[in-house]
Amino acid sequence: MNFAIAIDGPAAAGKGTIGRAMAAHFGFPHMDTGLLYRAVGRRVLSGMPALEAARALTPEDLQADGLRTAEVGQAASQVAALPQVRAALLDFQRAFAQRAGGAILDGRDIGTVICPDAAVKLFVTASDDVRAQRRHAELTAKGADLTLEAVLADLQARDARDMQRADAPLKPAEDAMVLDTSRLSIDEAVEKAIALATARMAAREFSPIRPN
Ligand code: DC
Repeated sequence: MNFAIAIDGPAAAGKGTIGRAMAAHFGFPHMDTGLLYRAVGRRVLSGMPALEAARALTPEDLQADGLRTAEVGQAASQVAALPQVRAALLDFQRAFAQRAGGAILDGRDIGTVICPDAAVKLFVTASDDVRAQRRHAELTAKGADLTLEAVLADLQARDARDMQRADAPLKPAEDAMVLDTSRLSIDEAVEKAIALATARMAAREFSPIRPN
């Protein structure tokens, strides 16, 4: 039996943190699908056509250095608006979501397009200011020299593009639970997400094989 957990939301809302914590709790594999688009965006920045980059993607590309920069994030958002690029990345994500046991994917279109039958759908969000502060702290801790205003403008531009694109725009699935993390600690947000998933598992009589 498969139990997929779909986590969507805008940039820096806490999707990745929640996804990783749920993965550790339930012993499920986790895929940060933003990394796929970032890896394509990175190759495009070094001169490769977007579709070629998407088709040539390998799992090793997801481990590359420099995928988390703001520049690569913008390039990822741009290539993500191209339907052919999205189509080239679809099967890989669906196969991951459908593997036996459980799987957790986070991104922008997991509950709406990649995994519309996911057992649990979360839409993780937070105010623009909170998200910008979190991302600013994360980037400056890695040595980046950026103002808070620049980080806020970057997130807002990326979210606007991700929400307005015609193909698989960022939006909550109709049956998603919205989790606003603006005033929640990481632990509180993770606790809520785990409680929701645990209740769904009980309703489906699904028992995860937890890691030791
Ligand atoms: O999650 P992230 O910020 O690393 O994602 C980078 C960009 O990739 C994001 O701005 C939009 C795109 N993306 C997408 O279109 N669909 C996904 N499932 C994941 C990311």
